[in-house]
Amino acid sequence: METGLLDAFAQEYKKLLESELRVLVEKLDAPLVIKESMIYSLEAGGKRIRPLLLFATLDAFGIDPKKGIPAAAAIEMVHTYSLIHDDLPSMDNDDLRRGKPTNHKIFGDAIAILAGDALLTYSFEVIGLLTKDFASADTKLRLVVEMAKAAGTEGMVGGQVADMEGEGKVLSLEELEYIHIHKTGKLLRFSVVAAAILAGANPSQLDNLSAFAHHLGLAFQIQDDILDQVGNQEIIGKPVGSDTTNQKSTYPQLLSLEGAKAALHNQILQAKEYLIKTDLNTNLLREITDLVASRDH
Ligand code: IPE
Ligand code: IPE
Ligand code: MG
Ligand code: MG
Ligand code: MG
Repeated sequence: METGLLDAFAQEYKKLLESELRVLVEKLDAPLVIKESMIYSLEAGGKRIRPLLLFATLDAFGIDPKKGIPAAAAIEMVHTYSLIHDDLPSMDNDDLRRGKPTNHKIFGDAIAILAGDALLTYSFEVIGLLTKDFASADTKLRLVVEMAKAAGTEGMVGGQVADMEGEGKVLSLEELEYIHIHKTGKLLRFSVVAAAILAGANPSQLDNLSAFAHHLGLAFQIQDDILDQVGNQEIIGKPVGSDTTNQKSTYPQLLSLEGAKAALHNQILQAKEYLIKTDLNTNLLREITDLVASRDH
C-alpha cells in the first residue's frame, strides 16, 4: 500500500464491517426490541477506528483484510457496548452519542443495559464460532483470552471504575494515565494485537505492534479529552463539556490545553517509532496514526 490510500481503504472496509454487523444481529433469535436496540447503537455511525486498525494491521502483514471482518465486528460490538453503558445516567449521564440520542434515551435504561450485555457476550460467541478459514482453534483461544483481558477488570472495566472513582477529585498525571490506558487504550491495543495474532506475528512484531497501539490508545483518549473541551458538538456527535459537568480529571484540565496537545504529540511520536521497528508495510497504520493526532471527531 502506498500513502494516501486510507480513504478508499476505510470506505471499502467500513461498508463490509457494517454489513457484517447487521447480518450478525439480524440472524439472532430474540425479542425484537433487543435486536433493535443493538442495531440502533451499532449503526449510529461510529468512526470504526478499532476495526480499521485491525484491517490495516492485517494489510501490513500482506494478509487480506477480509479475513479480519468477523473479529473486527466482535471488537466493534465490545466498543459499542462500552459506549452504551458509559452514557447511562449512573455513569456519564449523556444524552447524545454518534449524533443521535443515547441508547437509554430511546429504549430506557433496562434495555440499554441489556443491549450492552448482549453485545459483549455476542462478541465472544462470534470469535468462538470463527471457521477454520478465519482462525485455528489455538488462534481463537488466544483471541478470546486477549479480548477478555482488554475488556475486563484488568482492562477497560478497571479503567472505567477508576474514572468513576476519580470524579470530583484532582488526580495525579499517573492516575489519569492509568485511567486512559485502561478505559480506552486496552481495547484499541487489542484491535492491533488481534490482527497480529490472526497474522501469526513473531514475538518481536507482536511486541512492537503492541507498544505502538499502547501509545496510540493513550493519544486517542487525550484527543477525546481535548475534544470534550474544544470540539464542536455537531461534529463529534456527543455533548461537549461532559467531562466538566461530571468533574472528571482530564489531560487538558491537568496540563492545560497546550500541555495536553504536547502530551498527545509525544504519544504519537512514540507510537510511530514502534511502528518503524516492526519492519512491516505500515503505511496505512501510519495514516491512521496521523488521523488520530489531528481528528476533529
Ligand atoms: C469514544 O470512542 C469513546 C472512547 C473510548 C474515547 P470513539 O471516539 O472511537 O467513538 P466512535 O466509535 O467513533 O463513536
Ligand atoms: C469512555 O471514555 C471510555 C469507554 C467508553 C470505555 P469517555 O467517557 O471519555 O468517552 P466519551 O467521551 O463518552 O465517548
Ligand atoms: Mg466515561
Ligand atoms: Mg463518556
Ligand atoms: Mg470523553
